[in-house]
Amino acid sequence: MLEVTGLEVAYGRAQVLFGVDLAVPAGALACVMGRNGVGKTTLLNAVMGVLPTRAGTVRFEGRDITKMPTHERVRLGMGYVPQGHETFGQLTVAENLRVTWEASGSKDRSVIDEALDVFPRLRPLLKRRAGFLSGGQQQQLAIARALVTRPRMLILDEPTEGIQPSIVTEIEDVIEHLHKERGLAVLLVEQYLDFAMRLADRFTVLDAGVVVHEGAGAELADEGVQRLLAV
Ligand SMILES: Nc1ncnc2c1ncn2[C@@H]1O[C@H](COP(=O)(O)OP(=O)(O)O)[C@@H](O)[C@H]1O
Ligand SMILES: [Mg+2]
Repeated sequence: MLEVTGLEVAYGRAQVLFGVDLAVPAGALACVMGRNGVGKTTLLNAVMGVLPTRAGTVRFEGRDITKMPTHERVRLGMGYVPQGHETFGQLTVAENLRVTWEASGSKDRSVIDEALDVFPRLRPLLKRRAGFLSGGQQQQLAIARALVTRPRMLILDEPTEGIQPSIVTEIEDVIEHLHKERGLAVLLVEQYLDFAMRLADRFTVLDAGVVVHEGAGAELADEGVQRLLAV
């Protein structure tokens, strides 16, 4: 469904990704792992067209989208939840969802309700400004917002980072539900090994902008792999 080949990305003169290959088959949950600063966020931003690529191609369902703007990728069915649960802090929860719905060009308002069904805890907060939500609630809103565009692939960058443990479990359960029950393909950057081991069909380990290991989810239990991830 998603196929990245030979991807190179640089910030000015500082090259960060060096020929990264990555494939996410339809319905799969793929995890990108690696220490801080190895290029995981850069990779997702390039996949979503937030950052330009220096070389390489990104294909989605067979189509070359390497030069396509982000909003068109979203319309093709790619939903993105960037690192740091970014929401529009000055807008209410309801407005955050509505703005995304309007931008998506959808005529079908029921997608907002569907997104709220996934996160019922957001319903009593609809009139609250997003900036006043807890980190966990903001992350739920960020995922709900991505769902409003009805993605077929969900791309999440460290969705449980810095969030209170009780909500981490809820977020993990939602990702599992979307993947297993609704058949969404998922590309996930995750530092927590337990979560990745429980859910990932396959994983890719990055180190200094290079893929240093790839394998099936079960191999994450191997000591050699865990050493690559140790901080
Ligand atoms: N906007 C930027 N300008 C310059 N360098 C950046 C920028 N964003 C990230 N980097 C650098 O790129 C490298 C990879 O960063 P990032 O993709 O955020 O890593 P990760 O998500 O794996 O922690 C790091 O060395 C980081 O300092
Ligand atoms: Mg990152």
